[in-house]
Amino acid sequence: MKSYKKITNICCIGAGYVGGPTMAVIASNCPDIMVNVVDVNPNRIADWNSLNLDNLPIYEPGLQEIVAKVRGKNLFFSTDIEKGIREAQIIFISVNTPTKTYGKGKGMAADLKYIELCARKIAEIATEEKIIVEKSTIPVRTAQTIKTILENTGNNIKFHILSNPEFLAEGTAIEDLQNADRMLIGGDNTTKEGQDAIECLSSIYERWLPKERIIKTNVWSSELSKLTANAFLAQRVSSINAISALCEKTGADVDEVSRAIGADNRIGSKFIKASVGFGGSCFQKDILNLVYISKTLGLEEVADYWEQVLLINDYQKRRFAENIVSNLFNTVSGKKIAFLGWAFKKNTNDTRETAAMYVADYLLEETAIIHVYDPKVKSNQIFADLEYLSSRTNEENHKLLKVETDPYQACKESHAVAILTEWDEFKTYDWQRIYENMKKPAFIFDGRNVVDSKKLTDIGFKLYQIGK
Ligand code: UDX
Ligand code: UDX
Repeated sequence: MKSYKKITNICCIGAGYVGGPTMAVIASNCPDIMVNVVDVNPNRIADWNSLNLDNLPIYEPGLQEIVAKVRGKNLFFSTDIEKGIREAQIIFISVNTPTKTYGKGKGMAADLKYIELCARKIAEIATEEKIIVEKSTIPVRTAQTIKTILENTGNNIKFHILSNPEFLAEGTAIEDLQNADRMLIGGDNTTKEGQDAIECLSSIYERWLPKERIIKTNVWSSELSKLTANAFLAQRVSSINAISALCEKTGADVDEVSRAIGADNRIGSKFIKASVGFGGSCFQKDILNLVYISKTLGLEEVADYWEQVLLINDYQKRRFAENIVSNLFNTVSGKKIAFLGWAFKKNTNDTRETAAMYVADYLLEETAIIHVYDPKVKSNQIFADLEYLSSRTNEENHKLLKVETDPYQACKESHAVAILTEWDEFKTYDWQRIYENMKKPAFIFDGRNVVDSKKLTDIGFKLYQIGK
């Protein structure tokens, strides 16, 4: 372990939403450590290296400032994966692990092919002892797979495998990393070597996090904790969304219910905001993973329990879309509907599993005309999302859906405005002007409960909000 005493070089494979911001924060806190972020996608790397910081592939508040400070000093983005592996003492694996779209476990299990490719590449290149850190969310016991590949295909050198799951949320990634509630490191804590590897990684985070926030566990606990954390968070959202449907039938107001129950500190106020449904790269994928693992282990009841969180989420998205159709006199065919927001939450340009695409798909099947405005999501991403989700051709989608760069233009002449993301700017629009330019009756379907209901109804809008 001697070579690990002083860490001077680390590498991260995967320059995505997790790898990019995480490495930027490490580089900025550890000026004496060389941080190489490598990726197979040359376009992504070119974007990370672009001189105009507005062209970074990921939008996160605070990210541009950090990249401006450390890029080219001790933070480098490159496609030279082999060099990155060769020089690093610690290698983070941060490639994507999508839900399998083929074969056994299709639609449920995590596809580990990129993780396996990384492990094989490391085994081929490495000639010195290294610490391998799983950053990607993965099913429990993946570390064993990585270990087996490394030990059976490599150059007979020692590898120490750690699980160090990421808890950052998009939109607040930099703050979450810089000021993490906890940092979890799982390793082989039964051997001296394993403990040394854990300490080695811990020493990096200790540069800016208090030691007591670093939680050390065995590998399997660490891997399972990541899935469990996301399942619990998603469960809270589905729980309040289930209650929102009940509120609409009874005259209760879901925001009031949230406030009332959130004041109980055993429950707490976070993650009980009713919405059109949760999205993002993690919640659905991780719960599917949990369901799949439970089924594989013969735990059918456990699988059914967690699957219900996803069923309520699907129901909430469908309910929102159906409500638009029924309010617009049971037909949206040929009617213009403006979408404000497409990202799965505010302050990110990420659209993975966004509720917006499911709602759009439902309305497009009803042959509505949709005009989308999102402050950060680019047009080609929106069409890529629709192509991934629907059986319509790209050409058909282009006929029915337009992407606008001006919100007032998006809303002009529309029958209804649907708010899909809680961007702050939506609150400050000139709603009087929007109202005047819309068809009457002018409907607003607020899927995030962001607009001022009194102000908008006074203007004359017919307003629907979740759980009201
Ligand atoms: C991460 C985690 O890895 C995932 O498991 C977690 O659940 C969500 O966050 P994320 O950073 O969001 O994924 O993914 P993405 O933005 O798609 O970035 C992954 C990067 O890895 C891509 O840029 C891709 O090009 C790269 N990659 C993928 C490689 O460099 N090599 C590969 O073999 C596969
Ligand atoms: C999540 C976890 O929070 C993070 O710890 C983990 O590492 C990755 O997965 P992320 O997906 O980036 O992060 O966003 P998050 O803030 O958790 O939101 C997920 C979804 O739930 C969003 O669509 C959001 O709008 C929705 N949500 C969240 C609600 O609808 N209501 C809430 O009260 C909270």
